[in-house]
Amino acid sequence: MKYLVFETKKEASKEAYKILKSLINENSTLGLATGSTPTDLYEEMIKDHKEGNFSYKNIKSYNLDEYVGISYDHPESYHKFMETNLFDHIDIEKENTHVPDASAEDLEDALKSYQEALNNANIDVQLLGVGSNGHIGFNEPGTPFDTGVHIVDLKQETIEANSRFFNNDINLVPKQAVTMGINDIMKAKHIILLAFGKEKQAAIKNLIDSDIIDESIPCTVLKKHPSVYVLVDKEADFRN
Ligand code: GLP
Repeated sequence: MKYLVFETKKEASKEAYKILKSLINENSTLGLATGSTPTDLYEEMIKDHKEGNFSYKNIKSYNLDEYVGISYDHPESYHKFMETNLFDHIDIEKENTHVPDASAEDLEDALKSYQEALNNANIDVQLLGVGSNGHIGFNEPGTPFDTGVHIVDLKQETIEANSRFFNNDINLVPKQAVTMGINDIMKAKHIILLAFGKEKQAAIKNLIDSDIIDESIPCTVLKKHPSVYVLVDKEADFRN
């Protein structure tokens, strides 16, 4: 595991983009994340694309997760997030992008389809944020490491943390989500995890500065992966 600390989110994201670019080519498959964490990295990707240095024409992407109970047009749905923050600004083909379908009438069937798609996806680089409780994707503490695509009941702390995107009203935050499982995440060839802000410090300490590998702190599974890059700002650094 490579651990890199930067002054700011912006600097970490610039380096994350350099690392990402060194690991992929224009035919690669990306595992993408949402939330506040990857936004500057997506800006770097857009900037480089607009400068003519990288085309997404043949890139495929698979997203980690999606809320259950809000429509794709909801500004905080992860479908919308990806359009607004990345897809609308690069030349990726819509049909090559995949975000879990959490609004399907038959949700079980949608989960099965996403699992099948992931089983054939061969993700080259998976981008990850981390929840303050150590969740990755929406795999909350206690999720078995061998889990695939599934529906999650979000933990109270996750609902509270994400209420900042929903007018700070926890009643507006969806209570369930669909997520790739930990087993799916671990199949990626390389993983880049980003973490910014003091509230991520405990998760980073458990990941970088302990021997713990335990389902109660989902991100600790990454210690078993052969190629992980962890980039943080100084607030998330466990030594602060
Ligand atoms: C969210 C997402 C995760 C994300 C994490 C951190 O709930 N489902 O994929 O990595 O929690 O979120 P943020 O980047 O907004 O801090």
